[in-house]
Amino acid sequence: MSQAPFDIVVFGATSFVGQILSRYLLERYGAGGEVKWAIAGRSEAKLVTFKSGLGEAAADLPVIIADAGNEASLTEMCEQTRVVISTVGPYALYGEPLVQACVNSGTDYCDLTGEVQWIRKMIERYEEQAKKTGARIVHCCGFDSIPSDLGVYYLQQQAKAQFGEPCSTVKMRVKAAKGGLSGGTVASMINVTKEAVADPALRKELANPYSICPKDFRPARRQHNVKAAEYDEDFQAWTAPFVMGAINTRVVHRSNALQGAAYGQEFGYDEAVLTGKGLKGRAAALGVAAGLGGFLVAATIKPARWALEKFVLPKPGEGPTPKAQEEGFFDLRFVGISAKGEMIRTKVTGDRDPGYGSTGKMLGEAAICLAFDIDTPEKRPGGFWTPASLLGQKAIDRLVKNAGLRFELLENR
Ligand SMILES: NC(=O)c1ccc[n+]([C@@H]2O[C@H](COP(=O)([O-])OP(=O)(O)OC[C@H]3O[C@@H](n4cnc5c(N)ncnc54)[C@H](OP(=O)(O)O)[C@@H]3O)[C@@H](O)[C@H]2O)c1
Repeated sequence: MSQAPFDIVVFGATSFVGQILSRYLLERYGAGGEVKWAIAGRSEAKLVTFKSGLGEAAADLPVIIADAGNEASLTEMCEQTRVVISTVGPYALYGEPLVQACVNSGTDYCDLTGEVQWIRKMIERYEEQAKKTGARIVHCCGFDSIPSDLGVYYLQQQAKAQFGEPCSTVKMRVKAAKGGLSGGTVASMINVTKEAVADPALRKELANPYSICPKDFRPARRQHNVKAAEYDEDFQAWTAPFVMGAINTRVVHRSNALQGAAYGQEFGYDEAVLTGKGLKGRAAALGVAAGLGGFLVAATIKPARWALEKFVLPKPGEGPTPKAQEEGFFDLRFVGISAKGEMIRTKVTGDRDPGYGSTGKMLGEAAICLAFDIDTPEKRPGGFWTPASLLGQKAIDRLVKNAGLRFELLENR
């Protein structure tokens, strides 16, 4: 066991989502108790103000100063902890030096990135070194992609128990969700759009469903992708594209590959939003598809992007109100079909706003799971993992017990 004084350090504790996460850790685990954790960031003044706003309960919460652009400060921070959580994004702009510092020092790491092109670069550049030092890196520990990745993992465990085999096709459909966007998420979305406009190779890479799978993984299936309004027979309803599908599907395929193709070499997975039945459902699906298309087009055109950033979208540090976070929720439905034609239905639900109220809890529990439930690197080696492939059932147990998530079997036949 490492001699580091802390189990967890929250880097970016003053970010919109970092504050939610830090409040969650304080409420659930206290400060200076069984879980030894600290808050970190670039601005001492901001961290101290945030800490004093947390009240007496945070009196024993240590503060670490580290800057994403200062390697020495990041290394010093990593040496003080077993796990670093980072909410400093856009990750493609600020995230690499910290991943490098964690990998070099053998420190475990988790974050909230949904920037698939950046994840691929990090794997390419640092996986070999992470295997040597024992650092376990787990990206995508928020709404993208924990519910999808662990939702598929859960469905496949049920399928194996009921049918003796995994499902070769799984679909996730967003039945309902209520939540908002923060400035950090908007900045990340705009940044990836800007990068894609400037680079045709990146556009090709973003279209590849296996882009973050290991190079030696040989998938044997062309993936379906819901790109427009589509009727779904399995749900007897219309569907529209789901904006997070572009990252979630990639994470789920990497999970399959890292578990030795546990879902099958011919595994197919797609995501979409359910918009209802009949003409109303069709009109809603067309509306969602057009709205998403419109946003992406606007984000690629400089003046429209400027107007979006200036007048419409939240700025860095801004996001949904506490009331909106409290009132938010999500309800995701999964259907799986085995090669023999058996069908299974499951659902994953969560309380609070998916991207913030719930994401803060998911990220906190992923880090706690990494720090306390996962074997040492001798048994679970360093490398770039996914939530399902490294944390699996242990994370599901924690999320259900502590974080307002539920994983349920609805039907199998
Ligand atoms: N996967 C999901 O479900 C999900 C959900 C929510 C958010 N996210 C992602 O999480 C990230 C954070 O989002 P947010 O809305 O919380 O962002 P935010 O409020 O804009 O905060 C960004 C943070 O980065 C820090 N920062 C910037 N440059 C830094 C540097 N050089 N050194 C140290 N810290 C630096 C800022 O520090 P200061 O506080 O000192 O300014 C701030 O704390 C984004 O990438 C977003 O896309 C993902």
